[in-house]
Amino acid sequence: MVTPEEIAEEVFRKTRPGILLTTKVADKVNTMVIGWGHLGTIWNRRVFVAYVRSSRFTFELLAKNPEFCVSVPREEHLTPGILRVAGHESGRNEDKIAKLGLTLVEPEVVSVPAIAEVPLTLECRLLYRQEMELDKFPADIREKYYPEGVDPTDSTRDGSVHTAFYGEVVSSYVVES
Ligand SMILES: Cc1cc2nc3c(=O)[nH]c(=O)nc-3n(C[C@H](O)[C@H](O)[C@H](O)COP(=O)(O)O)c2cc1C
Repeated sequence: MVTPEEIAEEVFRKTRPGILLTTKVADKVNTMVIGWGHLGTIWNRRVFVAYVRSSRFTFELLAKNPEFCVSVPREEHLTPGILRVAGHESGRNEDKIAKLGLTLVEPEVVSVPAIAEVPLTLECRLLYRQEMELDKFPADIREKYYPEGVDPTDSTRDGSVHTAFYGEVVSSYVVES
């Protein structure tokens, strides 16, 4: 058991280069790399907010099961293999967990497993979700991340809009190896 306060700095430092967000529906477990997200407080609860484009398979799974696990490496970075597969390939087409040989670990509270190889774990349960509205961005951010010519509602394209997923941290720990 570690508290969100104890690990906040480490989570912050490691999120930008890449951490994992894992989801599960029925027997299907999927993980993807996220580089955007933050741990903090809202509604007097400890919350991790993740930003997921509607094009991701993860987005579909979160609509069906509103629980997820955030996994942070103890090493500085995810391995190049995990970054490549979990950050560029979609669980729609393959089983990334099997391809990477990741070891799933029984969760403490939620229904989604932790990952032994990426052991610092935040188990989260969704409290709130909000789709971003493109007319509320400064022009430079809109042009860079949601370029014209890509329909932001087209869920098959990069450039699709992000939804913020606010997950209450219901358990946090480091998986012992
Ligand atoms: C370093 C890195 C950071 C990423 N951060 C995000 C992110 O914060 N949100 C997002 O929607 N996609 C992000 N991606 C892209 C997804 O990881 C990628 O599209 C993945 O294949 C989606 O998997 P899925 O379709 O199985 O959900 C990132 C990729 C990399 C390599």
